[in-house]
Amino acid sequence: MTDATIRELSRHVGETVRLRGWVENKRSSGKIAFLQIRDGSGVVQAVVSRAEVDDASWEAVAAASQESTVHVVGAVKEDRRAPGGVELVTESLGVDAVSEEYPITPKEHGVAFLMEHRHLWLRSSRQRAALKVRSEAVRAIRDYFHDREFVLIDSPILTPAACEGTSTLFETDYFGEPAFLSQSGQLYLEPAAAAFGKVFCFGPTFRAEKSKTRRHLMEFWMVEPEVAFLEFDGLCELAEDFLTRVVARVLDRCAEDLKVLERDTSALEKVVGPFPRITYTEAIEALREKGVDIEWGDDFGADEETQLASLHDRPLMITRFPASMKAFYMEPDAEDPKLALGLDVIAPEGYGEIIGGSQRIHDPELLERRIREHELPAEAFQWYLDIRRYGTFPHSGFGMGLERFVAWMSGLAHLRETIPYPRMLYRIYP
Ligand code: 4AD
Ligand code: MG
Repeated sequence: MTDATIRELSRHVGETVRLRGWVENKRSSGKIAFLQIRDGSGVVQAVVSRAEVDDASWEAVAAASQESTVHVVGAVKEDRRAPGGVELVTESLGVDAVSEEYPITPKEHGVAFLMEHRHLWLRSSRQRAALKVRSEAVRAIRDYFHDREFVLIDSPILTPAACEGTSTLFETDYFGEPAFLSQSGQLYLEPAAAAFGKVFCFGPTFRAEKSKTRRHLMEFWMVEPEVAFLEFDGLCELAEDFLTRVVARVLDRCAEDLKVLERDTSALEKVVGPFPRITYTEAIEALREKGVDIEWGDDFGADEETQLASLHDRPLMITRFPASMKAFYMEPDAEDPKLALGLDVIAPEGYGEIIGGSQRIHDPELLERRIREHELPAEAFQWYLDIRRYGTFPHSGFGMGLERFVAWMSGLAHLRETIPYPRMLYRIYP
């Protein structure tokens, strides 16, 4: 007898196969029962008719509560209306393990309850679809950079200093010294750019975000490319090309999952270059014209980002921010040093900032001054200054938050469903 996964069943029409999985749902009417069986690769309906199976199999049907582990032997029958195009005509069925009363039933549950049962919630179809989009997005991102000869440089998670401001640091004890969970791999990528030219890192990053929003996690994954001799215009082009390619690849590979998520994919098909580009100053003017009470020098909140993005159907690139509101390492604009050569990319449809990046300061004196002005511990940055002492070079890079990207692709309003085990304000269970 052939063992098969549900995904493979359409290749076995007319044959008898054996599969193992879990009972998602069961309906029965006297002499016939319908079991929805999930095995990780898909879901199939097993039809069991009393007249066709032995007593033990019929008793197993009765015992197979929701989420019980079962094995089924059945004939694969074509059924065009079924999700995978097939159903199983059961010849025998056995329960390997009876599930206790399963807490997540087909009725609606509140989010707090579902988060409490995240380890079980993962089995639900929408959660599976979102996490498969995530898995495919990770693959598309890695391929994008490997295909273009970027070298993967894993940046450390335990670090001695802040990269993105000191207010969101998670502190821990490192043998009597304070250490911080990494907010970004950037500072470690810049030196590697002098070794390899084009590099990227892709790993978990941590920010103690003390406000509760749907766009912030305490632990999130960021992909960060960094490129030697790349200046600001080139950076904007890289971000645009990267986004269009990765979105297209997700659209291509995740069609089934996006359907489960009921994502309107026509909105994603519009993500082709050129993306609209405006400066920070133009963005402020546009907002003021819409009656928003905002001054030059203010940061955009989620509402302002959504208002700006709603003017366009593709990602919006905002450039040249007041240097005072951005990180210490950003290169000033040669034409107006009040401005920093920073880039934010805002996703359409209200999904917020997905990319933040900049050209980096490569002048050692200016960088040293900025470290002082930002009151950062100078000793902890000596190694970082070395990059400017030993053959300095213009360079640029950006970071994209994976969960924001997946939320946008999947059409999910909240980041908590885009990562298997979200770390949120006041929640670290399970
Ligand atoms: O704009 P950010 O802070 O930029 C950096 O960290 C740079 N050092 C990156 C670089 O140039 N190499 O963060 C980059 C992106 C944001 O645009 C957003 O997508 C995501 O990281 N992000 C978060 N995602 C989820 N939860 C949070 N708390 C996030 N904070 C930032
Ligand atoms: Mg940012």
